[in-house]
Amino acid sequence: MGNDKFVEVKNLKKVYNNGHEAIKDVSFSVKKGDLVCLLGPSGCGKTTILNILAGLLSPTSGDILFDGKSVVKTAPKDRHIGYVFQNYSLYPHMSVLQNVMFPLVVGKNKKPKAEAKKIAEKYMKLAQISDLADQRPHNLSGGQQQRVAIARALVGEPKILLMDEPLSNLDARLRLKIREEIRSLVKEVGITTLFVTHDQEEALSIGDKIILFNDGVIQQDDLGQNFYLKPNNYFVANFVGNPVINNFKVKKDDGKIKAKDFEINVDDLDQDRFKREIPDGDYILSVRPENILPDENGGLPVHVDDIELIGRERILKFEHDGKQARSLVDLEAPIKVGDDIKLKMRLDRIFLSTPDGERVY
Ligand SMILES: Nc1ncnc2c1ncn2[C@@H]1O[C@H](COP(=O)(O)OP(=O)(O)OP(=O)(O)O)[C@@H](O)[C@H]1O
Ligand SMILES: [Mg+2]
Repeated sequence: MGNDKFVEVKNLKKVYNNGHEAIKDVSFSVKKGDLVCLLGPSGCGKTTILNILAGLLSPTSGDILFDGKSVVKTAPKDRHIGYVFQNYSLYPHMSVLQNVMFPLVVGKNKKPKAEAKKIAEKYMKLAQISDLADQRPHNLSGGQQQRVAIARALVGEPKILLMDEPLSNLDARLRLKIREEIRSLVKEVGITTLFVTHDQEEALSIGDKIILFNDGVIQQDDLGQNFYLKPNNYFVANFVGNPVINNFKVKKDDGKIKAKDFEINVDDLDQDRFKREIPDGDYILSVRPENILPDENGGLPVHVDDIELIGRERILKFEHDGKQARSLVDLEAPIKVGDDIKLKMRLDRIFLSTPDGERVY
């Protein structure tokens, strides 16, 4: 109860009418005032969870508690939730002010007009749209419409704010700007927020913590940096990180981890990082491009097929065991396409997984 578990989801399951099991057995909690990102690929169940929290959909089983009280039987309008949908559906025939005021002038909690206007103006100011009050939505940019939708979700002074991919209609630069604004806005208001995105960088940049889903199951519920440094499994290691992590097929045999063109002594690995004893057999070695770097003493000889410039750094591309792999180097590293070089891995930053995705190192 209380502030640490302001929102609590317990053993949530959702089977749709057609038999599809969208949410398998999901439990998590959100601290009061936190901004938590629900992250995951398309179809993993993010919108389903928000709709269940909002009461637009009922769960097949499981419980949801807000501030210690179960709300599964509470009507949506009594859950004190603000919801910003992916397509922000503003009313086209109303001005910005009327759109933002709308939740305050309808329904049973209707407020006198002057008071509604005052509250609307407060949130329009916070969302930096005061000067657009008299505009119609079709005259606004995507970013401005998004702010109107956020202000409209906040005027009812909800206890919990749900946002479903709120930035997906915006161009890249605007996304960066608005995501920072959303974070400072919800922090200023102090509202507990669940923010859905499929963009890992967005989640890392704004979330107090991230819950990563795949296929209706939580893969990791953690602080942002732990997805990068301590992924729970192969899926997480591959979902988070840009450029994507390299995966090499390896075999453990004879005290060594052997791959095409390189091998590592098991004794040289950090023994504390083993999650369990591992038998000889097939594994996947994953290493982020920034942790496999050119080094004269490196154990992996490669041929640089291509180089891609990404701002301050360059991605060296090479083939290993029939697959493209990458090393992320400094802009000034004296390496060109066609060079034969050696690469060295940081052994304290590699991951080993079983073929079915369990991380063992
Ligand atoms: N009404 C429905 N009936 C049957 N299956 C559904 C229904 N709504 C969603 N699904 C399925 O449930 C799964 C989860 O859907 P959901 O919309 O929650 O995914 P999502 O993570 O929000 O995906 P996206 O990132 O594409 O929005 C998907 O496989 C989807 O096809
Ligand atoms: Mg969705």
